[in-house]
Amino acid sequence: MTFQIAKMEAGSKPELYANLAAQLSSLLAGELDVIANAANCAALLYHSLPDVNWAGFYFFKESELVLGPFQGNPACVRIAIGKGVCGTAAELKQTLVVENVHEFPGHIACDSASNSEIVVPLVKDGRLIGVLDLDSPSLARFDDEDAQGLNEVAEIFVSASEEV
Ligand code: SME
Repeated sequence: MTFQIAKMEAGSKPELYANLAAQLSSLLAGELDVIANAANCAALLYHSLPDVNWAGFYFFKESELVLGPFQGNPACVRIAIGKGVCGTAAELKQTLVVENVHEFPGHIACDSASNSEIVVPLVKDGRLIGVLDLDSPSLARFDDEDAQGLNEVAEIFVSASEEV
């Protein structure tokens, strides 16, 4: 099977994310494996969204976040809950949009090219499963429309996949 990623340069962000959500649903259809689904989701995001230098997952294991499938440069493997952007989003179970990561207290720099970041918690039945993390080399790359679109992406991923 080949999966052609649709070109998504044109249109507004809501249109772009609606298109992305449709592609993701079809990409994950019939597959429950969480690692396979996370890998395909990271690849789809990385290759579809403009101006993104890292897209991937951290999963909540025992008491910390552990690196999962991603696209981009190698990243730090373990993040304590409450630390960095990822650990803070996980602790609060809230999406965090960070316009300038260098101004975020405790930001964990994995790629020196990253200047802004968005982290969406993955929650199933009220329980934290992990986070979806995207970085950009541009300042203020992510906004509320990205937050809304990526929350939908996270929901599609969580409901399609067996638990970690
Ligand atoms: N910057 C993140 C660490 C993960 S990397 O961006 C891939 C943080 O502060 O939690």
